[in-house]
Formats: sequence, structure tokens, C-alpha cells
Amino acid sequence: MTQELPQAGAVRAYPAPGAAAVRELLLDWCGADADDADDAVRALGALDGPALELADRLYQGIAADMGGVKWLSWPKPPAAHPLLGLFPLLAAVPDMLAFHAERGVDEDLSRRLLGDVGEKLRLNRRLYGRAGLDVAHWFTGHVRGSLYQLGRLQFCVEGEGPAPYVGVHIRGEGGPLTLDAVRDSVEWALEFLPAVFPERYAGPGDLALGCHSWLLDPQLRDWLPERSNIPGFAELFALEGDGDPAGNRSDLWRFVFGRSEDTPVEKLPLDNTLQRSVMAGIEAGVQWRNRFGRLDLSRLGL
Ligand SMILES: CC(C)(COP(=O)(O)OP(=O)(O)OC[C@H]1O[C@@H](n2cnc3c(N)ncnc32)[C@H](O)[C@@H]1OP(=O)(O)O)[C@@H](O)C(=O)NCCC(=O)NCCS
Repeated sequence: MTQELPQAGAVRAYPAPGAAAVRELLLDWCGADADDADDAVRALGALDGPALELADRLYQGIAADMGGVKWLSWPKPPAAHPLLGLFPLLAAVPDMLAFHAERGVDEDLSRRLLGDVGEKLRLNRRLYGRAGLDVAHWFTGHVRGSLYQLGRLQFCVEGEGPAPYVGVHIRGEGGPLTLDAVRDSVEWALEFLPAVFPERYAGPGDLALGCHSWLLDPQLRDWLPERSNIPGFAELFALEGDGDPAGNRSDLWRFVFGRSEDTPVEKLPLDNTLQRSVMAGIEAGVQWRNRFGRLDLSRLGL
């Protein structure tokens, strides 16, 4: 996959962030924890020639596709540099801000969007016991201008064609997934996306929203308590397909248990209702699946 990246400097000179910029961006813009910022500064200092060249090429991939859809496929970072992907992303923050400003997106929203970086750094530390950003490629959506955080939910322009399909995504940090929070976010998106991308969406009627997630598995309703927000969220979507029969271990381990995929079942934490409910299903032989569904606005009263 590395071969498919543009060459170093192909689009513009790589604005390699220095230690002070890395620290400031992480603490002031990305809401990162101090230990993640410290480790990132150390990791920056440890980049060798080949790692710096790869960071440059990753940045060029972003610069070449500002305003493009979805997120980019990136090669796995070299084992010695688990934070490598962070640096081209931080280098691209000014490109993102310029894109947002051009499209009338408030700086407030740009800042809120970057909070996801701090969250995923925290999650990596929880998963692997050290600093890292295993989903660095995910943030190429944020910095290229395809993804926005509008209230509780994230919306990403993902599909092909003149009015691309919009994916709904759910951060871990951000509070309960109540129907009111979901409705507010979706209402915002129906207004926001046509305003930001008038060449794609003439109005809310051009938007098709969907979600692919462990949250949409209808089996969850049988295992979660009545008060859980998750089944109510799932029921907003018209499901398509049957999901992957191989299951969704990596997502459940990551999002529900906060553990790496190789953690044995008996070592998973059972600290709250969600974890205990999913575990009860595992023990009963339920094959949990990720499902895809299209958002039915009428189920939100919209
Ligand atoms: C989706 C999400 C916001 C739902 O949270 P919610 O609205 O609080 O969900 P529920 O109403 O079902 O919460 C029920 C229980 O789950 C717990 N819970 C909520 N989020 C949790 C999480 N990320 N990890 C573990 N437990 C969680 C709550 O503490 C509660 O337990 P309690 O009753 O013992 O206090 C939450 O599961 C989450 O943050 N997930 C991670 C992000 C994610 O999965 N995104 C989708 C990726 S495809």
C-alpha cells in the first residue's frame, strides 16, 4: 500500500510540525492528555529518515485530496513508530482550517472535531498500554473536510456519485446516545451538509444517511436492560443485509470492553451493564454481528 502513496513533496513541501507545534496542537486543539502529548513529542524526536519520508508521503496523500470523500487507506505504521500517522495529520490541520473557513464552518466546530484525536489516543493507551494511534487513517476524513462532529454524532461524506451517501458515526466520549441527542444531531446535519456542500446537496432531501455498527445488531435488545439507549438508536435504521456471519469480535473488544482483540474472553472487564449484557450473550453462544442500516428520518419525527 505504501507504493500507492504520492512521493515526498509531490503536492507541496511537507510542513513537518516541530515539538512545540505537536504539543500545542495536541493539548489545545485535540484535547489530548498530557502523557499522550509528552509521548508524541518523544516519538517525533525518534523519527528516522525513512519514517520522516513516510510521514511526508502520508501528508501528500491528504494534500492531494482535500475535499475528497471518506477517509484514506493508509499502510500500518512501522512497529517502531506507532504514532507516526499523527504527525502528517497535525501537519494538515492548517489545510483543514483553510478548507473549513472557505466553506463557512466555524472554528468552534473544527476544534470539536479534533477532540476525537485526543479520545483515540486515550483509547489506544487503554487498548495497548502505551501511546499510539492505530486508526490514524480515520482522521484523514477529519482533516480533508469529509467528516464533521455535529452534536453527539459524526457525519462523514462517504459515498460515490454527485450526492454521496453520508455515514453516521458515534464517538465513545460524548455522553449517552439519547434519542433527543440523536435527533438534534441529525437535524443539524440536514441543514449543515447542504450549506457546506451545495454542489453535492441542493437540500436535505438529497441526503441519504446510514450507519454500519455493532450498535445496530437487533439481538442486543434481548440482552440489554430496558433503559439502554442502544436498541432505540438501532430502531431508527432500516437494516439491509445480514451482517458478517464471522461476527464482530474486534469491534466489541474495542468499543465495549476497551481491550485489544487478542484479549481472552475470561480476561474481559465486566464493570457495567453493557459489558455484562454482551458477555451474557457470548456465553450463551450469541453470534454478535455488525449491521448496516439506512436512517429512516420519519422514525425521528423528521
Ligand atoms: C454508543 C454509546 C455512546 C452508548 O452509550 P449509552 O447511551 O450510555 O448506552 P446504554 O444506555 O446502553 O448504556 C448502558 C450501560 O453501558 C455503559 N456504557 C456506555 N458506554 C460504554 C462504553 N463505551 N464502554 C463500556 N460501557 C459503556 C453505561 O455505563 C451503562 O452501564 P451502567 O448502566 O452499568 O451504568 C456507548 O456504547 C459508546 O460510547 N460506545 C463506544 C463508541 C462506539 O461504539 N461507537 C460506534 C462504533 S461502530
